[in-house]
Amino acid sequence: MKILAIETSCDETAIALVEVKKDSKSTKFKILGNEISSQIDIHKEYGGVFPAIAKREHIKNLPLVLKKVLREAKIKEKDIDKKISTIAVTTGPGLEPALWTGIVLAKELSSKYKLPIVPVNHMEGHIFSIFPKKGKTFSIKNDKELFPILTLLVSGGHTELVFIKNWMKYKKIGQTRDDAVGEAFDKVARMIGLPYPGGPEIGKLASIERENVVPRILAHADISQITLPRPMMYSKDYDFSFSGLKTAVLYMIRDIGELTDVIKRKIAKEFEDAAFEVLSYKTMKAIKEYKIKTLIVGGGVSASLQLKKVMTQKIKELQQSKVLPYSVKVHFPGRGYTGDNALMIAIAGYYQYKNKKYTTKLGSIKANGNLSL
Ligand code: KG4
Ligand code: ZN
Repeated sequence: MKILAIETSCDETAIALVEVKKDSKSTKFKILGNEISSQIDIHKEYGGVFPAIAKREHIKNLPLVLKKVLREAKIKEKDIDKKISTIAVTTGPGLEPALWTGIVLAKELSSKYKLPIVPVNHMEGHIFSIFPKKGKTFSIKNDKELFPILTLLVSGGHTELVFIKNWMKYKKIGQTRDDAVGEAFDKVARMIGLPYPGGPEIGKLASIERENVVPRILAHADISQITLPRPMMYSKDYDFSFSGLKTAVLYMIRDIGELTDVIKRKIAKEFEDAAFEVLSYKTMKAIKEYKIKTLIVGGGVSASLQLKKVMTQKIKELQQSKVLPYSVKVHFPGRGYTGDNALMIAIAGYYQYKNKKYTTKLGSIKANGNLSL
C-alpha cells in the first residue's frame, strides 16, 4: 500500500509518499517521495516561530511541496486515487494554525479522491523517526525483539519519557513540569546572543569548549561562577524541570557582566552538561526500573551529538555494572530525520492504519495543539 503523509505542526512544511509491504518477518518501507520546505530563515528574524507566519508559509508551500513529491514518485495528480490508499496527517501536538493547514489539505485530497485519513500524533512520529536509514528503503521487524522500549522525546515543545510495551501502547512515565529542553536551549542561546534555533548553536560553542582548542583565559569571571544546577535530578519521579536552569543562566549572566566569547563557550558547555546529565540520569533510572531492551531518543534535540555520546556512555556503564542481565540498544534518528519530517508521520500513519484508526468522517478530524500520546 502507498501512504501520503503531511506534516505542518511547526515551522517545516513536509510531505512524504511511502510504499509499505509486509511479509512474515518484517514491514518494508520504500520512500517514493520525501520533501521538506523549512521556514527557519523566516522565523530566525523574529527569534522564534510565530504561528500566523508559520500558517501563511505552510499555505504558500504545501501545493508546491505536494507537486514535488508526486513528481518524485512519478505519480500524476489525477491518479492519486488509483495509486494511494490513505492520507496520514499530523493533528497535534503543535501550533494549531499551522496544524490546520495540513489538515485542510488532507481533507481536500480526501474528498476529491475518496481516500480515508489517518490522524497522527506528531510525537508518535518522532518515535518512528529512528527507522529510516541512508537509502530509500528500510524495514521494521514484526517480532517483539525490541520491546519493552523506552523513548525519550526531546524537542522544542516536549520533554517526556514514554514506556512502550508494544507499538501503539504508550505510557507516559515522566515529563517536564515547565519548559521543554529544546525551549531552554533556544532561550539560553538568545540570552548569550546566539540565533534561533539555539540548540545547534549552543552545541557548537560547547564542543569548542570541550575540545579545549582555545586559550582558557577568563577575563572578568572565575570558573567557579560558571556552574549550574541539575534541577530535579534526584527527585523520585521521572519528571523534569528546565525553567530553573534557564533562570540560573540569566542570573549568572547578570552577575558576570560582560560576556566574552570564552565565557559564552563556558556557559554553553555547562548548560549542555547540566541538561544532558539530568536527561540521562532519569533515562537510566527508568531503563533499570522498567527492564528496558531498547532506548529510542527522538525529537529535535536528538540531533545533538553530545546527547548521543552521553546516552551511549551511560548505557555502557550500566551494562558494565551488570545491573541488567541483557544488552540495551540505543537508537537515535539518522541524519535528516531528527527534526520534523513527513516520513515519520507516514510510518506512524501506517501502524495506525493497520490498527484501523482511519476515517472518512472529515468533520471528526481536528487540530489539537496539546494532543498527548
Ligand atoms: O522536533 P523539533 O524540530 O520541533 C519541535 O517539534 O519542537 O525540535 C526543535 C528543537 C529546538 O528547540 C532546537 O533548538 C532543538 O530542537 N535542537 C537542539 C539541537 N538541534 C535542534 N537542541 C540541542 N542540541 C542540538 N544539536
Ligand atoms: Zn517535532
